[in-house]
Amino acid sequence: MRASLSAVLLVAGAFSFHASANPIQTTRSSKHQPRELLQLPGIWIENIAVRHNGDLLLTTIDKGDIYSFNPSRPNAKAQIVASFDQISAAAGITEIGKDVFAITGAEYSTEVGFTPGSIQMIRADFSKDRCGTHKNTTAPSIDFILRGGDVGPLNGLVTLPSHPNFVLGADSTKGVVWRVDTTSGDAKVIIEDELLTPGPVGPYDFGVNGLKIFEGYLYFTCTKRRALGRVKIDAFGNKVEPAELIAQFGDADSGAATDDFVMDKNGNAFVTVRPNLLYKVTPAGEKTVVLNGTIVAPASVALSGNEKKLFIATAGDEAASIGGQVVELDI
Ligand SMILES: *[C@@H]1O[C@H](CO)[C@@H](O)[C@H](O)[C@H]1NC(C)=O
Ligand SMILES: *[C@@H]1O[C@H](CO)[C@@H](O)[C@H](O)[C@H]1NC(C)=O
Repeated sequence: MRASLSAVLLVAGAFSFHASANPIQTTRSSKHQPRELLQLPGIWIENIAVRHNGDLLLTTIDKGDIYSFNPSRPNAKAQIVASFDQISAAAGITEIGKDVFAITGAEYSTEVGFTPGSIQMIRADFSKDRCGTHKNTTAPSIDFILRGGDVGPLNGLVTLPSHPNFVLGADSTKGVVWRVDTTSGDAKVIIEDELLTPGPVGPYDFGVNGLKIFEGYLYFTCTKRRALGRVKIDAFGNKVEPAELIAQFGDADSGAATDDFVMDKNGNAFVTVRPNLLYKVTPAGEKTVVLNGTIVAPASVALSGNEKKLFIATAGDEAASIGGQVVELDI
């Protein structure tokens, strides 16, 4: 399956080198306009993590590659810094120690979704200088946290703040949240709730997708329910109250689907909604449209270290020969 998926994407990628279709304003000086920083032909960018040095780590769906990218250097190129073996999708990423990241991957196709049993979770450690005197820290050391078995597959990931060796992972297929001990690889379903499950209508058969923790609550997006919600948890990620709905995006028949999100230090959520929307939701649940129509299949969003910029990762549109993008927006 992987071979045929890659072949299709490679054809699309080759074609898009000749295409100029690009809906994004690229003028770097324009404020409050999304600016394209990067486009990867034929590749879906799924998730972003921001390193302490400001570099972005991008998980991608095509060959399971993880890219590193410096968003502040004009015309910087993305470099592959790690790759999953035998699977097409790198998905969730979360920092579990200073410059150490847990990253999940699985076999994925648009027809099947995630293939059960195909999960891999790695630890990518960027904290050591891999090239001695060259101070070249772009190549992490990699080891497996878990591989195969009945866990997940896991999409969005978040680290438990008071126990950072534990991560929570969104099982979008079953609509539950798992807790993984990254030191032992032990994993169990820790949160079940109807709001996490794929709802009855919607274009993608995915439940819980993105995860963030803020002031004792696990915030989550649920794709098919077009929803942002939250559930109160304890320090080990156990559910202590039923989940509550915070906001819903679009009408049931609008084709809207919620993907991943980020939260700022004041508790505002920035939520990506397919096919082309970015919303801001305040702690009171008030939602405003930040972008409409100027992004293509937004998949996730991250904040710069000073919280003055958003980085939006997109899946692009193969049919229109638009690759996955990283788009920057001043807020
Ligand atoms: C880092 O290492 C890679 C692979 O060895 C090399 O291609 C790259 O130029 C190095 N970057 C720096 C800044 O030294
Ligand atoms: C996005 O823009 C389109 C075209 O102007 C409009 O019809 C639609 O209602 C807008 N969507 C939202 C969620 O504001």
